Amino acid sequence: MTVSKGGDGAANADAQPAGGKPAGEPVAIESFLSELASFRDAASEALGRVADMAGLEQARIEFLGARSGRLKSIQKCLSGLASADRPAGGRHFNDAKAAVTSLFAAIQERLAGGAAAGEGTDAIDVTLPGEPVRLGHVHPITQTIRQVQEIMARLGFESVDGPEVEDQWHNFEALAIPAEHPARDPLDNFYLAVARGAEPLLLRSQTSTVQIRVMENRRPPLRIVSLGRVYRPDTADATHYPMFHQVEGLLIERGTTMAHLKSVLRQLASSFLGGDVHVRFRPSFFPFTEPSVEFDMEWGGRWIEMGGAGMVDPDVLAAVGYDPDEVSGFAFGLGVERIAARRYGVADIRDFYRNDVRFLRQF
Ligand code: FA5
Repeated sequence: MTVSKGGDGAANADAQPAGGKPAGEPVAIESFLSELASFRDAASEALGRVADMAGLEQARIEFLGARSGRLKSIQKCLSGLASADRPAGGRHFNDAKAAVTSLFAAIQERLAGGAAAGEGTDAIDVTLPGEPVRLGHVHPITQTIRQVQEIMARLGFESVDGPEVEDQWHNFEALAIPAEHPARDPLDNFYLAVARGAEPLLLRSQTSTVQIRVMENRRPPLRIVSLGRVYRPDTADATHYPMFHQVEGLLIERGTTMAHLKSVLRQLASSFLGGDVHVRFRPSFFPFTEPSVEFDMEWGGRWIEMGGAGMVDPDVLAAVGYDPDEVSGFAFGLGVERIAARRYGVADIRDFYRNDVRFLRQF
């Protein structure tokens, strides 16, 4: 027994066996709990090694014996706890006692069953049907991501990934979003307390970062799609979440036009939602596309805003070393939660993240 005395540091450092101490000597709650923990560990280790009834009886005497068992000597220290600590100490003591006692009973039952089996009774009836294993399945957002990747692959778009922790160049500057632009406001982004050089890194606020990373490393022609998590300090509501997913598409080839963009979006929407889905462009502004549009899809008789798109701005092409007179391209970005909600008839995207299996089981 090594429960140390309570009181000041000197007394604690002077830990002594307490088993032989008169009841009531001050005992620190920390020492008491650590003693209980090592009692539980030692008892379950010893009981785990027990191979027969004789061994079990030996372990019982050592750990649970009424006269000199280890549990008994820990019990004696209960009265040494400060009165404020005593209720908690008692609770932990009872828990430890119950845990070891029930382990003891389980091993006793197992050994008794083994003896019965040895007498010729089958302990396990192998003819009984097995217990069905409950299988989970892929989350609806992951299912959506895989479906979009597959549809885009059929249109020749290769799936690529990018980092979620980004630098200012890829999240903003290369996308023609200068330092004074409101999109860089600390209140609109999750900046990190770590920096690369003088500038803080951030959790990417859009997957358009991946356009830049790919263009920096490859030459046209390019057809890529990137699906992943993005982060914005938006208040969660039925259509917003601070962490969500985007699909980013990028095509760079000679002679690309807005008509190609619309065809690809229409193909994507029709394949994903089913049926002939119409796509509508509304004039908009993104610093890295010119012209820029918001695009809506008509499905079930309603127009729903899906994302942003446009022709890649010549300045962006030049920033990654492409010749804007040689090649042109389009890019688009849309919210995965929004299209999944549309397709599955989910009214509130927060349901995707509540982890309620009754909801998730439906997909
Ligand atoms: C962008 O993020 C642009 N990068 C899109 C783009 C890509 C434009 C390529 C041009 C070229 P925007 O901020 O509008 O754009 O977000 C795109 C889509 O993400 C929205 O239409 C919406 O579907 C989804 N979205 C935006 N904020 C949230 C949010 N908090 N929760 C869930 N979905 C969101």
